[in-house]
Amino acid sequence: MKIGVLGATGPAGRGLAARLSDVGYDVLAGSRERVKAEQVVKELETEWGDRVSRITPANNQAACDADVVVLAVHADAALATAKYFADQLAGKIVVSMANHLVRNGTEFNAVLPPHGSIAKEMQAMLWRSEVVTAFHLVPAAEFANLDEKMESDVVACGNDDTARTTLMEIIRAIPDLRAFDGGSLENAVGMETFAAVLLTINIRHKVRAGLRLSGF
Ligand SMILES: NC(=O)c1ccc[n+]([C@@H]2O[C@H](COP(=O)([O-])OP(=O)(O)OC[C@H]3O[C@@H](n4cnc5c(N)ncnc54)[C@H](OP(=O)(O)O)[C@@H]3O)[C@@H](O)[C@H]2O)c1
Repeated sequence: MKIGVLGATGPAGRGLAARLSDVGYDVLAGSRERVKAEQVVKELETEWGDRVSRITPANNQAACDADVVVLAVHADAALATAKYFADQLAGKIVVSMANHLVRNGTEFNAVLPPHGSIAKEMQAMLWRSEVVTAFHLVPAAEFANLDEKMESDVVACGNDDTARTTLMEIIRAIPDLRAFDGGSLENAVGMETFAAVLLTINIRHKVRAGLRLSGF
């Protein structure tokens, strides 16, 4: 399976691309400028050698050719990017990880679009794609070091059972990352808004906390 990552030059997309390559997925690492993606892939190769050999740099348009496409672009740009590539994304599984947040003093708050969440807004735009969500609460820094154990749990949401199951298989392929079925896109708002709570906790307690579910 080929996985495209749009905005793979940012900390979240870059780390995710490296983790996916490390477990055997072919990854198209996208950027608005292919040369930026090439630079990032070069840096990853210097750091991780063969473990990232399955990553190919691309522009975002070419990265949309993958079977599963992760939108790891800046949160403000997630919906505009989805809209721009709507035709190329038709028939594909599209993963949103966007937390649209604003900082007010020492807290973060979620900014939700008219459909109630970024995910639902995206699904309304990408009506020919299956939008699923994950990774909202995984700090990018946790992806970055391939030798470091992942500690966060990931809740996946999506309306289509097959797409959600495919996403959970991808998540579970990454060692130590646990995937949980969070239901339909109706529930994606829970992850998008909890990201604001989590970042607020991190600021106020001066920590880098993630989500870990108990009882499993
Ligand atoms: N960082 C985290 O810890 C974290 C954790 C969980 C979820 N997330 C979510 O994951 C996504 C990526 O996070 P990030 O921190 O890696 O993001 P970021 O560094 O802010 O941006 C990622 C990439 O998005 C592209 N980009 C920036 N502005 C754009 C625009 N106007 N249009 C299209 N592309 C644009 C840039 O790539 P090019 O210039 O190469 O195109 C940039 O490198 C966000 O939605 C965020 O909410 C992040």
